[in-house]
Amino acid sequence: MTTGEVQALLDGRDDDLADLRDDMTANFARGPGAILLRGLDPAALGEARFASVLARIGGWLGTPAIQSPRGERLARVERRGDDPAARGTHSDLELRPHTDLHDILVLGCFRAAATGGESLLLSARDLYGAMLDEAPQHLPALAKGYYWSTNPALASRQRLRPRLPMLFMPQGGRGAQVAFNGYFLRRAAHERGEDLPPVLAAAIECMEAVAGRLAGRSLFDLMPGDMLFWHNWSWLHGRMPFADRAGHSRLLFRLWIRSALAPRADPGLLELGLRMDEDHRLTAQMGRERP
Ligand SMILES: [Fe+2]
Repeated sequence: MTTGEVQALLDGRDDDLADLRDDMTANFARGPGAILLRGLDPAALGEARFASVLARIGGWLGTPAIQSPRGERLARVERRGDDPAARGTHSDLELRPHTDLHDILVLGCFRAAATGGESLLLSARDLYGAMLDEAPQHLPALAKGYYWSTNPALASRQRLRPRLPMLFMPQGGRGAQVAFNGYFLRRAAHERGEDLPPVLAAAIECMEAVAGRLAGRSLFDLMPGDMLFWHNWSWLHGRMPFADRAGHSRLLFRLWIRSALAPRADPGLLELGLRMDEDHRLTAQMGRERP
């Protein structure tokens, strides 16, 4: 961002940011759907102000979804040693390339890790291209896909979600898209009381190997102040393991945004996010009903 844009952001003068806003929405509607904004100084702003600037920009792109039963629309991504069930959000472990459940994802880096924690974005286009070149025999199984499930810690009216393709070939001007999350996939197999069909298991193993290799070339460091926005269905994301040191812990702020700026390859992709929202709301409601 220019210094003028940074100042307008801090002053809350959104009218002076029309160009930035137009660039961002055009990037999602007609471009690659991935943007890194750099220029804020998080140490000078403090956590609350940095987070609120991030949320304001996120609001330009769509509707921020709730991310917890407490109804938070902005989540802290940080290691919490006291959380035994910690998955990605509260752990320091590697996260292999995957997609989440909402259309646009946003991470704002408040503090980088002492060591490690590099981020990765791998485009669905590159993954699809590599699979087409190297292992086209697996594409039918990936196009057929599998069911999704939900977080076992959440209440849910219906834990099993309909089957969706994992890889969508480019079509009608829309690029390749991807919907792949090994965690929810395994939860779905558990809900169905079955092992993954062998043909699908082999396709996933191959796709994960290819994605892992491509991801190794797609690593970058999110610097303090960086704000990263990407179209969840056009890019897989992940991160390397990291380590904090005393008095210095990695801290990112995260948004999940429902947005029709970029076309969805399948209406079921919208459904994934809506049903996750519903589970968060139901869990909140049940928590309130507890004596
Ligand atoms: Fe994720």
